[in-house]
Amino acid sequence: MYKNIVAFIQEVYKTKDFLPLHEPLFIGNEKKYLNDCIDSTFVSSVGKYVDRFEEEFAKKVGSKYAIATVNGTAALHVSLILAGVTKDDEVITQPLTFIATCNAIEYIGAKSVFVDVDVDTMGLSPDALEIFLEENCEIRNGACVNKTTNKTIKACVPMHTFGHACRIDEILEVCTKWHITLVEDAAESLGSFYKEKHTGTFGKVSAFSFNGNKIITSGGGGVIVTDDEVLAKRAKHLTTTAKIPHKWEYVHDCVGFNYRMPNLNAALLVAQLEQLEVFLVSKRELALKYEIFFEENKEIEFIKQPENSSSNYWLQAIIVKDVKKRDAFLDYTNTNGVMTRPIWKLMNELEMFKECQCGDLKNAKYLEERVVNITSSVRV
Ligand SMILES: Cc1ncc(COP(=O)(O)O)c(C=O)c1O
Repeated sequence: MYKNIVAFIQEVYKTKDFLPLHEPLFIGNEKKYLNDCIDSTFVSSVGKYVDRFEEEFAKKVGSKYAIATVNGTAALHVSLILAGVTKDDEVITQPLTFIATCNAIEYIGAKSVFVDVDVDTMGLSPDALEIFLEENCEIRNGACVNKTTNKTIKACVPMHTFGHACRIDEILEVCTKWHITLVEDAAESLGSFYKEKHTGTFGKVSAFSFNGNKIITSGGGGVIVTDDEVLAKRAKHLTTTAKIPHKWEYVHDCVGFNYRMPNLNAALLVAQLEQLEVFLVSKRELALKYEIFFEENKEIEFIKQPENSSSNYWLQAIIVKDVKKRDAFLDYTNTNGVMTRPIWKLMNELEMFKECQCGDLKNAKYLEERVVNITSSVRV
């Protein structure tokens, strides 16, 4: 059976050569803008491509402001600071995510609290969130306090797994009721919508990534988006070493970060952003091919976009229903030139996060044991 799957993927990609999980594609103005950037000598922290990217990105996702950063982790780190998270606070997130989500929380000195995901979205479950808060928390002086630890739960960070939107409007509702600030980890979901609104525009502040494996890439890069002018200004300030603008003086008013995106990367990204619609069509066409192919398969389920959403299908994913067969699938495909990869280990099972408080994580565990990413590169 696995032989058929490998043959199908090779047929879709019209090659028997090794197929990586996700390759970037440069088919537009990338070289032109990079050359222009090099010719201008503005390859570093100042230049027109950074401003242009920020403007065009904000327009693309429908947010008021976008602040480019050196990577998505840096964008998340600063987003959490903007949300008011400080040392000793707690932040609710999902256990099924890439490590950067929890690392960013740790950078502040805050602690992750893990709440379960929904099986269909693979993202934070608003129902599990509500249950966790009802059972463990109370409002004291306008803040959500965890009764077990006596710490404030300042923010909640859901993630749109592989570009599938979680039930973000319901999550926002729960967060608002419990005085918790919503920060979206939209690293994987550029081009994904929930109820026709772009992911990453529901939270007070959100972060995207343009790492080499993302739907568009700047080599490395990220962006913070928000509709709040004060937060946007603070984001720019904090990501550019907190330097007070002056013709010649170097005065900084707090400990900031060198998290800015170089103009060179922004040049690449402006060209990539121009291709986004082409990439989205290709990803969604590929998803449809997989969906039809796996329809008759009793052992493997292709993961389709959840209700009320339009996915970018950044990484295509399947569920190997019988846990015992997952490794055989991974072994066969990877040995036969088609790269596949299991979903992440649960964060709460990693050494650094073992002490973190958890809700009931049965859905996350079910998915962790069965979800596998399959070939997802755009081909045009
Ligand atoms: C869910 C998630 N959060 C955060 C990040 C961090 O982004 P970056 O690699 O650009 O730092 C990534 C991607 O790498 C991610 O997939």
